[in-house]
Amino acid sequence: MVGVLQTETYLYDPDLLLKLDFHQSPAKFNPFISAACPGETWLKVRPLKDGDYDRGFLQLLSQLTHVGPVSRTLFLTRFSQMKASGDYFVTVIEDTRKNEIIGAASLVIERKFIHNCAIRGRLEDVVVNDTYRGKQLGKLIVVTVSLLAQYLGCYKMSLDCKDKLIKFYESLGYVLIPGNSNSMTIRYDESPAVKNNLTAFKRPTPLANTPTAVNVAAGVTADAGDNCQTVSLEFNS
Ligand SMILES: CC(C)(COP(=O)(O)OP(=O)(O)OC[C@H]1O[C@@H](n2cnc3c(N)ncnc32)[C@H](O)[C@@H]1OP(=O)(O)O)[C@@H](O)C(=O)NCCC(=O)NCCS
Repeated sequence: MVGVLQTETYLYDPDLLLKLDFHQSPAKFNPFISAACPGETWLKVRPLKDGDYDRGFLQLLSQLTHVGPVSRTLFLTRFSQMKASGDYFVTVIEDTRKNEIIGAASLVIERKFIHNCAIRGRLEDVVVNDTYRGKQLGKLIVVTVSLLAQYLGCYKMSLDCKDKLIKFYESLGYVLIPGNSNSMTIRYDESPAVKNNLTAFKRPTPLANTPTAVNVAAGVTADAGDNCQTVSLEFNS
């Protein structure tokens, strides 16, 4: 393998994953598996590491959506930013036989003033390598980050998904809340003028003050058809 860092850093404390009680999840595993015991000795569920640039992490994400030519430097910068914030829990499944990341999901913590300065979780970027699908690994990675959200004290966890995946997430405890599960989007990456300004937090002036932003503001859309629904997992206090 080329270029793996000498000493690798976890994005967050891996011991957190050993504290999760998979019996608390409504997910039905057959056979039973968990983050600590994923069913095969060569499977490892763990936080993202900086060395995962060389384990195909970005190639895996490209099975979900467009990733782009992310250099090692850019990857490591983003990794450091996420680690410093403490609010990103990118979690992966590694096939240790191949040194390859074959599953991933992210918990992002959103800090609130409401609900007595509560925190909520967002489930993002769920993907399993297509040659490993149908073996419970999707369930495993989603349940892992969902239990992690509960363990960390989130009052709820939400995600956006296509209609065809609603049943998958419902089987893991997520619900469509009647009258409150629409997902709306405004895209900033469709105009070349705006696209050039999209390197997060590099802009010296607020995007909202620019003429391009005004144009884009006219394009607020609700996702139609099978595109997106928001489903939530409420945790009992
Ligand atoms: C969605 C995804 C993560 C599921 O991974 P997986 O490892 O195949 O999932 P599992 O083996 O744990 O399957 C769990 C259940 O969901 C169902 N399921 C999985 N993928 C599905 C899909 N695309 N559509 C409908 N049902 C699906 C399975 O049939 C299985 O049902 P069962 O428990 O009744 O047998 C995987 O298909 C994937 O990476 N898709 C591409 C990226 C994507 O769409 N991510 C989700 C973004 S919200």
